[in-house]
Amino acid sequence: MTGEDAPIIAISGLTKSYSGRKVVDDVALEVRRGEIVGFLGPNGSGKTTTIRMICGLLKPDSGSGTCLGLDILTQSARIKREVGYMTQRFSLYEDLTIRENLDFVARVYGLADRRARVTETVRRLGLERRRDQLAGALSGGWKQRLALAASVMHEPKLLLLDEPTAGVDPQARREFWDEIHRLAADGLTVLVSTHYMDEAERCHRIVYIAYGRIVARGTVAEVIAASGLSTIVVTGANVVRVAAAVRGRDGVEQVAPFGNDLHVVGTDPERLRAAVDAAIAEAGGGVTAETGSTGLEDVFIRLMQQAALADDSTPSGRRP
Ligand SMILES: Nc1ncnc2c1ncn2[C@@H]1O[C@H](COP(=O)(O)OP(=O)(O)OP(=O)(O)O)[C@@H](O)[C@H]1O
Ligand SMILES: [Mg+2]
Repeated sequence: MTGEDAPIIAISGLTKSYSGRKVVDDVALEVRRGEIVGFLGPNGSGKTTTIRMICGLLKPDSGSGTCLGLDILTQSARIKREVGYMTQRFSLYEDLTIRENLDFVARVYGLADRRARVTETVRRLGLERRRDQLAGALSGGWKQRLALAASVMHEPKLLLLDEPTAGVDPQARREFWDEIHRLAADGLTVLVSTHYMDEAERCHRIVYIAYGRIVARGTVAEVIAASGLSTIVVTGANVVRVAAAVRGRDGVEQVAPFGNDLHVVGTDPERLRAAVDAAIAEAGGGVTAETGSTGLEDVFIRLMQQAALADDSTPSGRRP
């Protein structure tokens, strides 16, 4: 089916409209074997819709491509069977135990040697101690782990995870990501949507979508560098007054408090520095201001604002 070097996902021109509005607009994406690719973007930007078109659950209006070497337009039934897909909402049975849920999924996939397969999956995902608990009684973290188990039980080569850790605590999210990395090390390819910056940083590569269009892609470092943003970190007792004084000045794009610090972001380092210096003088000093590293979140906020300005269909209320 696919050679060792053939892309696991290769799509281009993918477009989908609802009620005359393009919610996915000319999306191209290539994902290679063993990669963990993060799919980021604001609410309603088209992540779920794109994922559903990749895995054969939704037909694009236009565009084409392959998933696991299968044509997304003509071989969607096979794609559906062969990928592992974890939906944005918990979709297992709350009134069945972990084992029963996995047994049910094994039946749906028509897996041979069902019992052994369920036992092996329970072991592999570390669910032994909870295997007889009702899914509905599990914590958010364990529910997501069960959903992950269900999506890998048929040993797919590609996992599509749609916000797999939404609402899950940091420790459980970390363990979930350790598991994803273990699976990827075994050769599984992963496309995962998320709103969490720390999760973006755990991906080999990220893709950022806004208003249906991909507006940035690369490693986290590449995406930050390509944004052309600079950041000055202001520290000291007087940051609140500096924040008020710096907002709206020429050269200042974003002002955000982080704990006791203030991050001031702009595109032109010289104008940014001049604005910060002027604001500090106006606020009466009492702070230090040093060049800092730009965070992914600052980059995403800028990308979203730029995309909003470029998007004609954006309601004025969402314009920055
Ligand atoms: N079946 C549908 N009918 C009409 N509109 C839809 C349908 N599915 C999605 N949309 C719209 O398409 C846009 C993209 O939705 P999508 O669910 O793909 O976004 P998303 O990036 O996954 O958002 P989130 O981060 O909130 O999950 C949204 O405006 C949504 O309301
Ligand atoms: Mg979604």
